[in-house]
Amino acid sequence: MSADRKIRLVVLISGRGSNLQAILDQAASGELLAEVAAVISNQPGVYGLERARQAGVPALELDHKGFADRPAFEAALIGQIDRYQPDLVILAGFMRVLTAGFTEHYQGRLLNIHPSLLPKFRGLHTHERALAAGETEHGASIHFVTAELDGGPVIAQARVPVLPGDDPDTLAARVLEQEHRLYPQAIRWFAEGRLRLEGERLLFDGKLLDQPLRLEDFARQPINNSRS
Ligand code: GAR
Repeated sequence: MSADRKIRLVVLISGRGSNLQAILDQAASGELLAEVAAVISNQPGVYGLERARQAGVPALELDHKGFADRPAFEAALIGQIDRYQPDLVILAGFMRVLTAGFTEHYQGRLLNIHPSLLPKFRGLHTHERALAAGETEHGASIHFVTAELDGGPVIAQARVPVLPGDDPDTLAARVLEQEHRLYPQAIRWFAEGRLRLEGERLLFDGKLLDQPLRLEDFARQPINNSRS
């Protein structure tokens, strides 16, 4: 992948799509070096689909409840995604567990954002659990997706402090603001060809990445405050 060609993304969502909006905004500005070819939601009628339409991007609904089982849903999902021939598939608040059949099909070109500093707090209710555990620091992670739930190699993280008086909502909002910076940055690295998965090994600029990149170590990109 070279930086003189925009890579193609398909973004999978299940809800409001604020991370999708951050990606659409950065794609429109040219900063992302990527274009969003399609957005697919497993939940009909969610606001993220409207965001895609407003950006002129095909917005598809594929309701998992219409399928007999997980593999049948995933086969249909793969069919929809692959029509758009993406270089990279982006999970942005996509709230379905994926089988190995799906993750292996997109090995090395499937990213997820998770609202915790992985490997801490895999799964759901991450903000509640971080508060209950008395964490002083929390955040978000971008990782390549493997068959293990929230277990694939972590590419980059953004950290926020946990402040006195925080509740799950205030903490979630602080993390989300960073998610909107983190995801576009990781996608750009992939588009520039700096990020690669070789088997289980994560390479950045051709070197083994043995700990996640930290967003605060990289220049801040401008963000559009209209999304949230
Ligand atoms: C984000 O906080 C994302 O990290 C989380 O869902 C939210 C989606 O928000 N993802 C997960 O919990 C995945 N396990 P958005 O729809 O506004 O982007």
